[in-house]
Amino acid sequence: MSDAGKLRIIIVDDDASVGKTLLGILKKAGYDVEWAPNGKEALEKLKSGGDILLVDVRLPDMNGLDILREGHKINADLGAIVMTGYSDTETAVRALNAGAFAYVQKPYNIDEVKASLARLAERQNLLRQNRELVRQLQDSNAVLERKVAERTKSLQTANLDLANTIERLKEADAAKSAFVSMVSHELRTPLTVIEGFTETLIDKLESLKKEEIVQYLEIIHTDTLRLTRLIQNILDLSQMQAKGIAINPAPVRLKALSESVVRGLEVLNTGMKFEIVFDQGEVEIFSDKDCVEQVLVNLLSNAVKYSPKNSAIRIEGVSRDGIAQLSVIDQGPGIPEPERERIFQAFYRCPDVVNSKTPGTGLGLTITRAIVEALEGRIKVESGPEGKGSSFQVTLPRRIEGEKSNGSNDIPVAKG
Ligand SMILES: Nc1ncnc2c1ncn2[C@@H]1O[C@H](COP(=O)(O)OP(=O)(O)OP(=O)(O)O)[C@@H](O)[C@H]1O
Ligand SMILES: [Mg+2]
Repeated sequence: MSDAGKLRIIIVDDDASVGKTLLGILKKAGYDVEWAPNGKEALEKLKSGGDILLVDVRLPDMNGLDILREGHKINADLGAIVMTGYSDTETAVRALNAGAFAYVQKPYNIDEVKASLARLAERQNLLRQNRELVRQLQDSNAVLERKVAERTKSLQTANLDLANTIERLKEADAAKSAFVSMVSHELRTPLTVIEGFTETLIDKLESLKKEEIVQYLEIIHTDTLRLTRLIQNILDLSQMQAKGIAINPAPVRLKALSESVVRGLEVLNTGMKFEIVFDQGEVEIFSDKDCVEQVLVNLLSNAVKYSPKNSAIRIEGVSRDGIAQLSVIDQGPGIPEPERERIFQAFYRCPDVVNSKTPGTGLGLTITRAIVEALEGRIKVESGPEGKGSSFQVTLPRRIEGEKSNGSNDIPVAKG
């Protein structure tokens, strides 16, 4: 079929005068026409595009019907009008059977030729539109199939995301349930003690000696304090988990802050020897002062609580490669290797301190790590060569004022 636009007609007649006359008339009528004197040339022309053959039956090289058959191989939609002599009615019927649209008898009446041609042209145009519609339909079908495939893929991805989220939610839910049951257990211990001793006091007040009463009241007092601390820590932690930790970044001078925290502890007469060492001088970071202060207080109060009286507690501060590192180093019992990760878990306390009755809720380091991570830092612990002494190292991004977090928490881990 020729390109969109006019239909192309090929006249096939070995009689040049018939061919050329027809050519002139049809051109004048507005058709795009060519003339071929024989079958071979007609088929050649058809290969470069042709919609209609106006073909004589008798030609020197081929029969008109054979040309039609060959022509259909080149263009399946080819339309044809066969021109036959008066004596050739039988051929005309065969031509129609072979797919010709119409036949005209020679010598032809030009109006009859034009009328047949007009009807055939209309049919060819319809065929052409039909083909175009089918092509458009196939195209939009392909687009649709591609879209369906894309949607299916993004649905699969969304499904996978959903499955991951459900998995994470399940894990969070399990962690929450575990936390709640740990909390109830931890709260029950001091309450049981308080309940037991108050009952004894009520039941046996008359028979108890004064020293015994004082001793029981002291126990009740100690466990009440423990309960208060526990509840406060649990509240802090669950608030952090529920609302996150509010960070108000501002310049923080780590050396000055360490000195101020130590002054606060010295007022309590801990009897420890505090040392603050910042070899490079003051280290300033852009962070949340209250958060950094709470981290220091938690680490220093552990150092005080778990180290021998009058031993040294050292705070070291260094800055390098865009990070600041704060270390709290004590001369205490140290943390055995297997316990070094566990001490950051809620309610975990090393067995020796539990046995030694050093009071504590086991939540201090859990809270500390949550704060450090909210500041996009890291915390880890090491012990001295013979397992003596602990060194808690907190690494924080230094950042200059106004520099935004990239949220990656990807700072180098401090080397011990
Ligand atoms: N500096 C330290 N030296 C030795 N052991 C320590 C030190 N700091 C922490 N630990 C161990 O880690 C455990 C967990 O510490 P964490 O601060 O979380 O809880 P805690 O001190 O027991 O109670 P609290 O919640 O009141 O702080 C402690 O019970 C103790 O066994
Ligand atoms: Mg503690």
